[in-house]
Amino acid sequence: MNYDIKDIKLAAEGKLRIEWASRQMPVLKLIQTRFAVEKPFKGVRIAGCLHITTETANLALALQAGGADLVLCASNPLSTQDDVAAALVKYGFPMFCVKGEDNKTYYSHIISALGYKPNLTIDDGADLVSTIHKEKTRLLPDIIGGTEETTTGVNRLRNMAKAKKLKYPIIAVNDAKTKHFFDNRYGTGQSTLDGIIRATNRLLAGANFVVSGYGWCGRGVSMRASGMGAKVIVTEINPLRALEAVMDGYQVMSMEKAAPIGDFFCTLTGDIHVLRKEHFAMMKDGAIVSNSGHFNVELNLDDLREMSSSVRSMRDFVEEFSLKNGRRIYLLGEGRLINLAAAEGHPSSVMDMSFANQALCSEYIVKNHVSLGKQVYRVPMDIDREIARLKLASMGVEIDSLTPEQDAYLHSWEMGT
Ligand SMILES: NC(=O)c1ccc[n+]([C@@H]2O[C@H](COP(=O)([O-])OP(=O)(O)OC[C@H]3O[C@@H](n4cnc5c(N)ncnc54)[C@H](O)[C@@H]3O)[C@@H](O)[C@H]2O)c1
Repeated sequence: MNYDIKDIKLAAEGKLRIEWASRQMPVLKLIQTRFAVEKPFKGVRIAGCLHITTETANLALALQAGGADLVLCASNPLSTQDDVAAALVKYGFPMFCVKGEDNKTYYSHIISALGYKPNLTIDDGADLVSTIHKEKTRLLPDIIGGTEETTTGVNRLRNMAKAKKLKYPIIAVNDAKTKHFFDNRYGTGQSTLDGIIRATNRLLAGANFVVSGYGWCGRGVSMRASGMGAKVIVTEINPLRALEAVMDGYQVMSMEKAAPIGDFFCTLTGDIHVLRKEHFAMMKDGAIVSNSGHFNVELNLDDLREMSSSVRSMRDFVEEFSLKNGRRIYLLGEGRLINLAAAEGHPSSVMDMSFANQALCSEYIVKNHVSLGKQVYRVPMDIDREIARLKLASMGVEIDSLTPEQDAYLHSWEMGT
């Protein structure tokens, strides 16, 4: 069988939702139309380890139109939309992903996808690439390159390259401006709040909302939580980012100070054990804890379990941990990225740009892999600019262009006041 999904009968619902998302993905659609004519991926096998969402489905269809032979598995055990997985099987893709799969199944699905012997990898978090490098090195001779979607994955791959362990070129899609300026900030900003609200149905207005990490994602979540009336508290380890948060109008303090006063906590650092024993011990009764960074390691869940006398499920994606100190802490979505666990991930309009980058960078690798080394590359500037231009055009937004006089001025030094 070339799939392992929850239920093929969900396909009709998935197809409708994929179509709904496609209406907000005009840039990817333009690329798909060109791919259908030029077939840049003819004869290329691609393995994608991505959140299986309606937007990813549209990327898959664009690559398929370009001639790719694509297999998909999930990049997180809790982010799969089972109806989308079913629809993608109907569209002809081998699929290995079930929402709520355990860690063992998650990795076995990656191995199943690798059974298709990819020439190119599209990863989100670098679990696919690291599995190839750790367990499936015999696949390496056939792999021409790969792309990486998120900050945590790019960080892992840069560390691999630094240690001279990376065996094929990767393009860091996350680092494109048309990706992280918008997806990480506005996408994570909106969808993280969406996930927390869908899971809890709690009011944010007037609550103390602690955001850990004031990077691209943290800025977005802070901005949106503040917009809903929460009093945002930021924790950081980087003085520049902390200063920026102060000047953006938020309270900045250590987690030690924030833990006893927070009503909501959300980590978005890409780091490990940002919330741990000493913080859980100080939290108020009823504190709501979530993570929207790539991995659930941001929360030390072993600590939380050890400190608890009982755990019960209160409602979908909300677990109540009764601490031995008598207080209760509510953990959302098993600590996995809450926007995908309890909501639907980023809105399609923002994924339009992220996945336009994925599509064009994959094409770039096919065309240029001979000249690429075993490194992590930035997205070519031309691709970034073209995506911004197309996105603006799709929105009907016109901008100015330089007059010849302005162009000359900006390229000269002689003229002062
Ligand atoms: N939920 C989603 O859909 C989604 C989308 C994009 C990225 N991500 C993930 O979110 C995470 C953050 O991504 P980003 O693009 O904002 O990264 P970033 O590098 O821009 O920001 C991370 C910030 O966290 C800070 N930080 C690190 N350790 C910390 C600690 N112990 N305490 C407080 N702050 C700390 C860093 O100084 C930095 O400012 C990554 O894991 C990324 O892969 C998730």
